[in-house]
Amino acid sequence: KMRLGIISALAEEQHGLIEAMKSPYKLIHGMREYTAGKLWEIDSVCVLSRIGKVAAAMTAAILVEKFQVTHIVFTGVAGSADSGVRVGDVVVAESLIQHDMDASPLFPRFEVPLTGISHLMSDRELSRRLHAATRQYLETEKLPSNIHRGLIGSGDQFMENPAKLAELKRRLPDLLAVEMEGAAVAQVCFELGVPFAVIRTISDDANEYAATDFMHFVKTVASRYAYGILKNFCHS
Ligand code: ADE
Repeated sequence: KMRLGIISALAEEQHGLIEAMKSPYKLIHGMREYTAGKLWEIDSVCVLSRIGKVAAAMTAAILVEKFQVTHIVFTGVAGSADSGVRVGDVVVAESLIQHDMDASPLFPRFEVPLTGISHLMSDRELSRRLHAATRQYLETEKLPSNIHRGLIGSGDQFMENPAKLAELKRRLPDLLAVEMEGAAVAQVCFELGVPFAVIRTISDDANEYAATDFMHFVKTVASRYAYGILKNFCHS
């Protein structure tokens, strides 16, 4: 039976989910507030990780080890890393890479040392359900956004330099979006054998306007996506 862990970095990216929980139970651990309860009949635990890979890894590990979640979904926003991926579009990760991982020449660029892995695979079934839930959400809201499936890159860096993004894109031509947590959750879930998915709404183009666009999008749009998509997901 599923017990779902739902992580977002910021409150705006998860707004409405905690309020939608039946018989919520709150517990503070490791400087984070975990809320357990029923989310549209699904046994769930919601938590805000804050920003960055360590924060996300810590949160994912605690969800599994202390709260016994069986599945994890990370929901939030990301910068676009592809001209075909536009602000308002949704990206469901098929695989994730820690784009700032570089232990070369000891290990190949992007490889998580001593694992032999650079591309961390998300759970197919969980991702398929999220994709379907997103399509349904965009249809009912009559939003013109597209949904993409593919590679997401995570790093402890807010990407706002087009030259840096271009350099990353040269090494990873398939990269669709950049954010700061997904691949950390992916590594934790891989090591603990927990299926996970990452779903991101594009808030900016990871260029010189990224910070402004990000702030605006997070404030106005991000939360509606998370709520709408997760609601459909829980009903699926
Ligand atoms: N999350 C949203 N936009 C981002 C960007 N440009 N870089 C990193 N993380 C992001």
